[in-house]
Amino acid sequence: MSVTPTTRKRVTTRRLIDMKAAGKAIACLTAYDAITAGILDSAGVDVLLVGDSVGNVIQGHDTTIPVTLEHMIYHTQAVVRVVEHALVVTDMPFMSYQVSPQEAFRNAGRLMKEAGSGAVKLEGGQRVLEAVRLMTENGIPVMGHLGLTPQSIHQFGSYKERGATPEEAEQIVRDAIALEQAGAFAIVLEKIPTALAAEVTKVTTVPTIGIGAGPHCDGQILVWTDMMGMSTEFRPRFVRRYAELHEVMTSAVQQYVTDVRGNTFPGPEESY
Ligand code: KIV
Repeated sequence: MSVTPTTRKRVTTRRLIDMKAAGKAIACLTAYDAITAGILDSAGVDVLLVGDSVGNVIQGHDTTIPVTLEHMIYHTQAVVRVVEHALVVTDMPFMSYQVSPQEAFRNAGRLMKEAGSGAVKLEGGQRVLEAVRLMTENGIPVMGHLGLTPQSIHQFGSYKERGATPEEAEQIVRDAIALEQAGAFAIVLEKIPTALAAEVTKVTTVPTIGIGAGPHCDGQILVWTDMMGMSTEFRPRFVRRYAELHEVMTSAVQQYVTDVRGNTFPGPEESY
């Protein structure tokens, strides 16, 4: 079925909860800049996450740890300027919400007020509940993030699947229920077993958004550069590549270099 973007209403957190109740899957992608966000928005994506994966994808870091609140504000402003339909959610970067619930609340407020985001996302369960409560009681919609939480990479020691032991799986279920009770409107489940994601999806009334969490989540999210095949090295099993932009861009640039060197660009029709 084709999407008719011009007739789509602005996506709200309420609408996402209604989509879960109606069994309508939620399509989410990351976005970090205006030109890409405009394409993804008009193509019909429901949620655009200004992810702290900006640290890996745009800034070239190995982890998301170096990303700052100022970076997230800058990238969110670019996305918000062009998006007409999708809900824009911004990741709270490492150390912007861990020190105290009050500091988390203040920083989340900056993402809403200065960047124009529609909601914030933060990683973790029990340890962030007070911050989530403070935000949601004061008008800031919060998306949770459980399972593989990349900001804890130095504690985990690897990017392998989480929730594979019964203890860890039970903790993820408990955390999801607690996040919902604290007011979260949705929960990202990253790299956990399919059956565990299905259970979390069943026990919560807010949507689960999976990335490497199987088909039973209420929605799916991918990093847009991964699903477009921009990287030659990063090819995790959970990513479906919908295009091979690395090849497309490489050959386009090679052709441009050839044309410039051969003095065939610009031609008369490209000159004044
Ligand atoms: O930062 C990010 O891109 C994310 C998604 C992978 C969910 O948190």
